[in-house]
Amino acid sequence: MASKQKFQAIRGTRDLLPPETALWNRVEQTAHEVFASFGFSEIRLPIFEQTDLFARAVGGETDIVSKEMYTFVDSIEELSEIPKIGEYGEFTKKVKELYTAGQIPQTADNLLGIQHMEAAWSRFTSIPPDTSASLDDLENVYQMTAFLDSMHFGPEVSLRPEATASVCRAYIEHNINQLPQPVKLYYMGPMFRRERPQKGRYRQFYQIGAEVLGGTDAPAIDAEVIEMVMTYFAKLELQGVQLDINSIGCKNCRPKYVELLRAELQKVKDKLGADSQRRIETNPLRVLDSKLEHEQPIIEKLPRIADHLCNDCKAHYAEVKRQLDLRGVQYRENWRLVRGLDYYMRTTFEITAAGLGSQNAVCGGGRYDGLVELLGGPPTKGIGFAIGEDRLILSLQESSRANVPRVAEMSASITGRAIVTGTLRSAVGPDVYIAWMGDRAQVTAIRAAKALRSAGFSVELPPVEQKFGKALGQADKLGAKFALILGDNEVSSGEWTLKTLADGSQQKLTESRLLDFLRKHVAESR
Ligand code: HAM
Repeated sequence: MASKQKFQAIRGTRDLLPPETALWNRVEQTAHEVFASFGFSEIRLPIFEQTDLFARAVGGETDIVSKEMYTFVDSIEELSEIPKIGEYGEFTKKVKELYTAGQIPQTADNLLGIQHMEAAWSRFTSIPPDTSASLDDLENVYQMTAFLDSMHFGPEVSLRPEATASVCRAYIEHNINQLPQPVKLYYMGPMFRRERPQKGRYRQFYQIGAEVLGGTDAPAIDAEVIEMVMTYFAKLELQGVQLDINSIGCKNCRPKYVELLRAELQKVKDKLGADSQRRIETNPLRVLDSKLEHEQPIIEKLPRIADHLCNDCKAHYAEVKRQLDLRGVQYRENWRLVRGLDYYMRTTFEITAAGLGSQNAVCGGGRYDGLVELLGGPPTKGIGFAIGEDRLILSLQESSRANVPRVAEMSASITGRAIVTGTLRSAVGPDVYIAWMGDRAQVTAIRAAKALRSAGFSVELPPVEQKFGKALGQADKLGAKFALILGDNEVSSGEWTLKTLADGSQQKLTESRLLDFLRKHVAESR
């Protein structure tokens, strides 16, 4: 007998269950609405892309690309079957063609594999045909198969760790630069990073992000993008929102600052931890991100980028701040905000929120002029952000738990009706629960459910007959607002019984009066 294996979600992934999913839907719906009001349109992107896209955009030395991507070699359809002995020659030719055309990654390993296969095949065919199979033959065949196994035929692909690279790839691929610029796009969906899971940090997590591509790099665009996230968070009544901003300069001024920083870090190298010591070489800016307690006083004494910006960057940053002021957006300047992806320049920002512990960044973003060009497109300005949706939800739930009276208010504003999150019971019960008994009543119940649903009400219709007492208990448990009671009497008389579950009152109504009544009273209770 097969053993009963118990399957579990993979570490760092999780199921999102009702009633929480209702909150996710409303958070997403609110994003659709707020972003549309700022002129953004939705883009839907693939979940996996060529690994090189992320390596080039995010940066090969970043943690995301060097350690955290889920990468695999895809297979090429034409080569999915291992050939029979006599077909190795043809097969090797095909492999070489695909390699030359760039369809098989042009790596040193693959080239070596092809050369070995060609050599083994030529040795194999040089054996006179009338010789019966010798050990040499078999050895050659074995070698060809072994080389095949070690080759990576398909393109290397990765589950997306973020979506900015994909948006830029799509912008280039579909010539979106031909449309009126700038183009404002937003997306939502799962991202994948192999990080150590903890509260607010998952291996599959969700982002809601937006990008503005093309047109000018006017600071008003930076400010409006930030204003949009802040408007969205305000609409959700997210608590403890703190916006940090910085400018990390451009390719003219940043390299000089990075060198200065590296030189200063070299002087204090011995006092730094292993990670920071490594970063002096790979990416000194990331040392500023360090959370290690003993490094803090050292970092505080390091030179600050604001003092080393070129005039253009200085003016751009000053204008971003003025534009934020004009919009009434409050911010804190944080010279240590450098962000962990390589494509940023000038404006960077991060937003934290209440109730998240150490993983408290709920949104990160910045300007990335030049990224589209780096990926093979025309010179293009770009700025955007991504919200960590898991953290956003967590923060909304945490603050609603801490402040229960606010819950109904907050949820009503998100949901249009009350969702009570967290430990409290889900209150999104059906509008009407139909309690029916008897075959004739079931026929009426099915018809009534159809009519009520098409009038826009949510209806729970039990699939099997239940005694009225049990059915009403069930209606109560589900949090239904009304129970429609249909027995033989109701069906014969055409007068249906409607029970209001909140106060237990009952009344008799005809079908058309029932609809009028519900339209009035359900709308009131939403
Ligand atoms: P990021 O800072 O890597 O930026 O991610 C943005 C947000 O995603 C973070 O602030 C956090 O809320 C959330 N996040 C990241 N990793 C995890 C994780 N393992 N678990 C849960 N949440 C996570 C980007 O991804 C850029 N593409 C943002 C951007 C768009 N910049 C310009 N345009």
